[in-house]
Amino acid sequence: EKGPYPHFMLKEIHEQPGVAARVLGSWTARGDGTVTCDAAGLGWARVPRLTIAACGTACLAGQVGKIWLERIARLPVEIEIASEFRYREPPLPEGGVTLVISQSGETADTLAALRYAKEAGQRTLGLVNVPTSTIAREVDVALATHAGPEIGVASTKAFTAQLLCLLGFTVMVARQRGTLDEADERRWIGALSSVPRLIAETLAAEPAIAAAAAGALAPASDAIFVGRGLMYPLALEGALKLKEITYIHAEGHAAGELKHGPIALVDATVPVVALAPSDGLFDKLDSNIREIMARDGRVLLLTDAAGAARLGEAAWRTIVLPDCEPFLQPFVQAVAIQLLAYHCALARGTDIDQPRNLAKSVTVE
Ligand code: F6R
Repeated sequence: EKGPYPHFMLKEIHEQPGVAARVLGSWTARGDGTVTCDAAGLGWARVPRLTIAACGTACLAGQVGKIWLERIARLPVEIEIASEFRYREPPLPEGGVTLVISQSGETADTLAALRYAKEAGQRTLGLVNVPTSTIAREVDVALATHAGPEIGVASTKAFTAQLLCLLGFTVMVARQRGTLDEADERRWIGALSSVPRLIAETLAAEPAIAAAAAGALAPASDAIFVGRGLMYPLALEGALKLKEITYIHAEGHAAGELKHGPIALVDATVPVVALAPSDGLFDKLDSNIREIMARDGRVLLLTDAAGAARLGEAAWRTIVLPDCEPFLQPFVQAVAIQLLAYHCALARGTDIDQPRNLAKSVTVE
């Protein structure tokens, strides 16, 4: 039931603080200042590489997870969309682990990637939202996403739940690989515990996001999303969400790649959404954004107070989101781009919960 919400998508966006609290409850269930999950027994200190395969939004969650796992746990990670992975027939390392990520647990290509990895002798992990699904049954270890049933075709709460599970997983792996010590782990649990509040604070920016969506983005027929580092997969997710439910042509790009081609598209009719938290990459993004503006590009800045102080005047529209430490930025920006797409679709009058041509579960190739 939708309760007071006009669409399942909006209801599911607003459920995210509660979902995050549920995920945390499961990852810190021991209550002793440590992170735990059923994948802890795989001996992560000796795993040479993690391979991730998934589709769509689940794959973008995996791309964020790759960055966390490499940076925090120093674990090499390969990630690929499942439909390419399976036909590429890649060699997989001895002692390796393959992780598949799927909300439905029934996506044909992801299931085939899992079966390929098993045949290649990999141990397998699944991050799955539907616990009774085929993928949950076929993996060696199934990790529950705890998002609850997701009805809106465009994935929202399942994505943030996948992200939070991947960050909890990263902390567990990092402890085993010795890149975090006990005190670090306690600090990380403190940081993870702030995620429900951070998401709630981002939801409080909904009126500003709705105004920018309706006034600035909804009239456009093309849009570009840019970001660096953790914000690169989030830019891809922002573009995916927008095109799915508004039918606006949207592209996501790594900000540093713009000048290698996509900047040719920029003019006053193509809004550029910049995912721009004031992190260590802000200076680089700042110069990319100024290049866009110099070509009459109209930049919609998703940033924090410090970022707004630096770039807000030059930007076309600025939305100020909560401050948080850089590794947690994906949670803030994920919710912001979901609200942006939702309110844009609302202004355009499209069928938000049942976008044309899309199905919730893709069981054919
Ligand atoms: C985007 C979306 C899709 C799914 C993809 C994978 O909003 O929902 O891109 O993420 O079809 O589906 P699952 O996670 O069920 O394997």
